Amino acid sequence: MNYRLLKPICFILFLSLNTNLMSQQDYDQKIEALLKQMTLEEKAGQMNQYNGFYDVTGPAPEGGNAALKYEHLKKGWVGSMLNVRGVEEVRKLQKLVVEESRLGIPMLFGFDVIHGLKTQSPIPLAEAASWDMEAIEKSASVAANEASAVGLNWTFAPMVDISRDARWGRVMEGGGEDPFLGAKVGVARVKGFQGKDLSLNSTIAATAKHFAAYGFAEAGKEYNTVDIGTNTLYNMVFPPFKAAVEANVQSVMNGFNILNGVPVTADAVLQRDFLKGKWGFQGFVISDWSSIAEIAPHGFAKDLKHAGEIAANAGSDMDMESKAYVTHLAASVREGKVAESYVDDAVRRILKVKFELGLFDDPYRYCNEDREKERLFHKDHMEAVLDMAKKSIVLLKNDTGLLPLKKDQKGIVVIGDLADDKNSPLGSWRLASDNNSAVSVLEGINSYTKDYSFVQGPKYFDDNASFLQHVSINTDDTAGMEKAVEAAKNASVVVLVAGEHGFMSGEARSRTNIDLPGLQHQLIKAIHEVNKNIVLVLMNGRPLALPWEAEHIPTILETWQLGSQSGLAIAQTLFGDNNPSGKLPMTFPRSVGQVPIYYNQYRTGRAKQEPNVFWSHYADEKNSPQFPFGHGLSYTQFKYKDLKITTTGQKETTVSVTLSNTGKIKGQEVVQLYLSDPVASVVRPIKELKAFEKVALEAGASKTIRFVLTEKELGFYTNDYEWTVEPGTFQIMVGGSSAQGLTASFELE
Ligand code: BGC
Repeated sequence: MNYRLLKPICFILFLSLNTNLMSQQDYDQKIEALLKQMTLEEKAGQMNQYNGFYDVTGPAPEGGNAALKYEHLKKGWVGSMLNVRGVEEVRKLQKLVVEESRLGIPMLFGFDVIHGLKTQSPIPLAEAASWDMEAIEKSASVAANEASAVGLNWTFAPMVDISRDARWGRVMEGGGEDPFLGAKVGVARVKGFQGKDLSLNSTIAATAKHFAAYGFAEAGKEYNTVDIGTNTLYNMVFPPFKAAVEANVQSVMNGFNILNGVPVTADAVLQRDFLKGKWGFQGFVISDWSSIAEIAPHGFAKDLKHAGEIAANAGSDMDMESKAYVTHLAASVREGKVAESYVDDAVRRILKVKFELGLFDDPYRYCNEDREKERLFHKDHMEAVLDMAKKSIVLLKNDTGLLPLKKDQKGIVVIGDLADDKNSPLGSWRLASDNNSAVSVLEGINSYTKDYSFVQGPKYFDDNASFLQHVSINTDDTAGMEKAVEAAKNASVVVLVAGEHGFMSGEARSRTNIDLPGLQHQLIKAIHEVNKNIVLVLMNGRPLALPWEAEHIPTILETWQLGSQSGLAIAQTLFGDNNPSGKLPMTFPRSVGQVPIYYNQYRTGRAKQEPNVFWSHYADEKNSPQFPFGHGLSYTQFKYKDLKITTTGQKETTVSVTLSNTGKIKGQEVVQLYLSDPVASVVRPIKELKAFEKVALEAGASKTIRFVLTEKELGFYTNDYEWTVEPGTFQIMVGGSSAQGLTASFELE
């Protein structure tokens, strides 16, 4: 057969239909026609993803084995590449494949667009703190807009892993500890990336990751074992993934961890039974970086070929950088180790996403030089990420009303290495960003007043930290300490900026101590001795344990890592042009020894029994957190009253509450409803977030908020994965955090 002739024929076939107008049936026909022409090697090739030639986000050979990769590209043995970006580079590689491979099937170009491409949004954990789904969706659409302008058509985001362990560096990348909030955030991000029409050149395919339970790595240690029970898996870990599937996410990434002794990449129950079976997922599963190869060192396969067989049988459709499929899969099929129908299913799924993206219509759809010039750092994008940043800030404490500062406030002294850092606010996972491109806190303050002084104090971090290294921390050079203390003595207010370096969180950045690294605690204490008027501005990628600061510093503003416009958002908040409205998406512990700590704990058999010692507690620390999930203050005050349950029934239970702004300025409050099912056939958490609404109120105004609870909110999954709603008493709590609120209960017959 003359293969050269085939390609033009099949391309004409594809080009004859505009993908926008294509129905599922049309795709299916085209896909079947193409599948018939493919050799086993070409099918395995579609299931193969290679890293590019420069950047790496995992272990990779020097230079990326360029010669071999080029050879495979030309053969059509590469379905996708990651970490390639820029219109010129993407076009070059796409052209190679489309014009030189036998069937010319265009490639997917994937990248970790985690919180922006060039214009950086706040880190995802910070965005989750906004509880503002519209803003989050907008922020993801900005990221998609820029990513698509540099040739990318696929992001490995959102990470929807529920995580309760602040030691784990990747908590910065997710939506926090709660499945309800986590699912909402995940869906908002999927919608933002994918838009309403995936074939537009401004939208990209999203990935829900890491399926499943990667966020439960033991002791918060990266790549560590996961060992959780069915109740937690079904009711805590699964919901955000299921919600992302329902929101039509195009791909799901598996992970590095094991679960029940099975590497999740090798887990057919997870991938075939749940994801593609019960949930009807239509997209494809991408492995994590070399997670197929890692099935062998886990002790679950004897070598790479065997690992590939297990992964393919388990439903891992595309192999990221393991080279298992491209090297061995065709042989495994011929030997009867993998059913060809599994391979066909994987290829169908991958091709379908390529169709949806419009790549068969135009393989260079995302390669537009004008867009590339025009979209990056676009003014509209800067506005959107500033808005997102302002909404992500959480006011943890404001005991003495130091904030907001007066605009004409005299004698402000700004202290701290992070105050003029233009890199750390960009956070981790921002491979394509420009170093030092964030607005620093100092620059932000400068836009309000020049009447302040800045003292760096001791240097906290090494300047040369990079994505690929650990950050070196100064623990003994106190130079600058004296100067800082001296300046603080006469200040009317000290704005002290402290926290983590931007690369201290993220992948492979687990910590055993989640305090302020280096000399920061020492500095804060020294300043506190001479001046109590301190506003502590925290900049960090995870919850921190700061018991001393929480007790002694009157004002604490959690600013996370807020991205490109960080300093502006912080300054606008310090000076009262932004009234903070964020609420914590993760519990802040008093001590690292309490971790994992989370609000939706299961009931124990030993609740408080003082003075008896035999109850579930610590001998040296309280059980309660430092700052609970859902906590966050405002410059105004809110009061809750009149909690009422107006109707009750299996179909609908309506709960209403009246919220009043009793302060002097306009503000926003996140009204949170928690539900408790005290007697059930599976032990339920002491409370669970089931509804929330972010409400804006003028000073003095009141509003009645209504929540409708249905089967969806009242039920849970049994250990047989049956959704069940059990009659009996339900308790509810409505308030401004998970720790307190008005309570009521109702009976369900
Ligand atoms: C991470 C993934 C990421 C991939 C590609 C892996 O190490 O776990 O989340 O998408 O690398 O960069």
